[in-house]
Amino acid sequence: MHVLVIGGGGREHALCWGVARSPLASRLSCAPGNGGIARLAECVDIGMEDFDGIVDYCRTEKVDFVIVGPEIPLVAGLVDRLEREGILAFGPNQRGAILEGSKVFTKELCRRHNIPTAAYERFTDITAAREYIQDRGAPIVVKADGLAAGKGAIVCQTVEEALAAAEDVLGGQFGDAGNEIVVEQFMVGEEASFFALCDGRNALPLATAQDHKAVFDGDRGPNTGGMGAYSPAPVMTDEMCQKTMERIILPTMRAMEQDGRPFKGVLYAGLMITERGPQLIEYNVRFGDPECQVLLSRWQSDPLAAMIAAAKGQLAGYEVNWSDRAAITVVMAANGYPGDYAKNTEIRGVDEAEAISGVSVLHAGTKLDGERLLSNGGRVLGVTAQGVDVREAQARAYQGVDAMDWPDGFCRRDIGWRAIEREEEQESEASS
Ligand code: AMP
Ligand code: GLY
Repeated sequence: MHVLVIGGGGREHALCWGVARSPLASRLSCAPGNGGIARLAECVDIGMEDFDGIVDYCRTEKVDFVIVGPEIPLVAGLVDRLEREGILAFGPNQRGAILEGSKVFTKELCRRHNIPTAAYERFTDITAAREYIQDRGAPIVVKADGLAAGKGAIVCQTVEEALAAAEDVLGGQFGDAGNEIVVEQFMVGEEASFFALCDGRNALPLATAQDHKAVFDGDRGPNTGGMGAYSPAPVMTDEMCQKTMERIILPTMRAMEQDGRPFKGVLYAGLMITERGPQLIEYNVRFGDPECQVLLSRWQSDPLAAMIAAAKGQLAGYEVNWSDRAAITVVMAANGYPGDYAKNTEIRGVDEAEAISGVSVLHAGTKLDGERLLSNGGRVLGVTAQGVDVREAQARAYQGVDAMDWPDGFCRRDIGWRAIEREEEQESEASS
């Protein structure tokens, strides 16, 4: 079959990597793709918001299955449009994608169905928001209702900061996405990402991962889209995964079905693991980036077949197999990211990095200029490696990083530190 992947980041390179190894895929395209995806798929110059262009391409090139990577086209209704045209697609329709598109919707759903999440209130009016913040005190979290490219959640250490954040967001810092805000309790714990594949009724747990959002080592500096990830996340024990399914994912699936919004695609729960168990921080309606890279690295059975089963509503009894090795992705970003950065800087050494056993370089923001590989975004590459444990995977990934020659880029040097600390604790307990 002819498969089209929508998007052009590291997540989409990982998705193409998974699809390309499936015996079901006889042809693979990606719109718009990037310099690394171009080695695996036909990259077509159609933007992810150009629904007419995407439908035309599907018709003329006889696309059988579309996988939508990013949230923007999902929330804007790309899957609805494809379904109206009779084209099978992976991802939620607009009514399902509201779980990421509106934080107010998700918080209200949690409240109605007793799904564990931070206590909150919603506001359109700054005077009422101010009173609530002053009454609750800090730390406290202010969130824009709508999509804000991962920047819409502001963790505030003081009441003054929270008042300023509420004013900025309601005042238009994120445009219409901030017409309404959620102000919520600050939760303490360890964060983890949990992924479930959904077919409208059934939810199949995939694997767990942990992301590193802060730009600098030691989780310091401003938040980014994600500077690295590893899978599995040791904090997500079998017991914790089961609680997450029972208390969070399955009640959400039932509630969405009851509301006439059956959810299909990947449900990605951002969790805070607290003393009281898993609490929902937020939902995303797609794979995480860079979490997708580590998930696809460990996904052993056919990921394309699983996504087709999800899109067709056929996940009952379905099984997915995972490697029990650990995987890690270290993101290489352009100097200056997440602030201003240069594009079109030359990257060398990808082949040398990939020559190291178990290392793959997944491209996020790159493009080809003849034979030369140029940077074309903030997050540029994701060096991905496997190992028997996170420590070994990390050592390989940094060998890969060190084999590259890109003076205009940087990466964190401590991706995986929490898991490695745990591995070392377990070793010293075992030997004492
Ligand atoms: P979000 O965009 O909702 O995932 O939030 C981005 C980041 O802000 C999360 O990954 C957390 O690190 C932090 N965060 C969001 N909400 C809370 C909360 N209620 N308590 C503590 N940290 C939070
Ligand atoms: N890595 C976080 C995200 O994809 O939202």
